[in-house]
Amino acid sequence: MVIFKKTQDISEFLAGKRSGGARIGFIPTMGALHAGHISLISQAREKGYLTVCSIFLNPTQFNNPEDLKKYPVSTDSDIQLLISSQCDVLFLPDVEEVYPGGPDNVVSYGFGELEEILEGAKRPGHFKGVGQVVGRLLEIVEPDTIFLGQKDYQQVMIITALCRLMLQDTNGFRPSDIRIERCPTVREADGLAMSSRNRRLTEPQRAVAGTIYQCLVSIQAKQYNSRFETVKRECGEILASKGFVTDYIAIADARDLRLLEEYDKNIPMVALIAASIGKIRLIDNLLMD
Ligand code: PAJ
Repeated sequence: MVIFKKTQDISEFLAGKRSGGARIGFIPTMGALHAGHISLISQAREKGYLTVCSIFLNPTQFNNPEDLKKYPVSTDSDIQLLISSQCDVLFLPDVEEVYPGGPDNVVSYGFGELEEILEGAKRPGHFKGVGQVVGRLLEIVEPDTIFLGQKDYQQVMIITALCRLMLQDTNGFRPSDIRIERCPTVREADGLAMSSRNRRLTEPQRAVAGTIYQCLVSIQAKQYNSRFETVKRECGEILASKGFVTDYIAIADARDLRLLEEYDKNIPMVALIAASIGKIRLIDNLLMD
């Protein structure tokens, strides 16, 4: 695996690979890598891409400074994990490299209602920050395909919108041509979606953390014979009984995240939950087919 810290170096390297016929598969991350991240690399590799992973803890997407400070950093073991998963290239820039004019001086995009609902409602400015950093990374890496986890369903939709909003650059790179692969959520045995934040769960918190997934499964299972309102109340009670504070339990049109009051069998639906246990906030979702 080749590691780059400088924008210019990785750009030149990838330009060479591209002219040699390589297709670039890009996996942006914030580090503290786990099997969920690695699954994205494996899928890119199996599809024949030159795999480019980035590790960058992006300050502009943390609306809560405490959350940024506590975000786990494990760069050395991340590198080992990437090598053993046969990742080709790692981009490991510092803040100045990603934001040469400072984090406040970056182009940002508006995503309308999509950035205001669900995660956006609880974390103001979060998706603006995600749009900024991913926009910048796309300019540097110019991938053919970007591999994203379904775990962050709303983020996939934001990045899809971002690619449409970004204009063609002087070299002819067109973000709107980037393919987006939404990869399945990798889970622990009890259904808990893998997340870097899980490392901060205490043992008793970890023991109940699978409840979020169980609730999603029940929302899916009850779609044909219950009202969503009832299922939502039951799930809220179950989560509260296990010590969770729920942010939202929602169902939405899976195509555009339009929130639904009631199950609608005529459209593809996704169920989404965000809930905190102690100071750890967890999110998850399930497509309802
Ligand atoms: P991070 O949380 O590190 O996640 C990087 C990628 O891994 C995202 O596409 C995320 O959806 C995916 N991922 C996380 N957990 C997963 C799981 N259990 N199964 C499958 N995929 C999973 O998301 C971010 O970083 C940042 O917002 C980023 C896009 C890098 C911008 O800073």
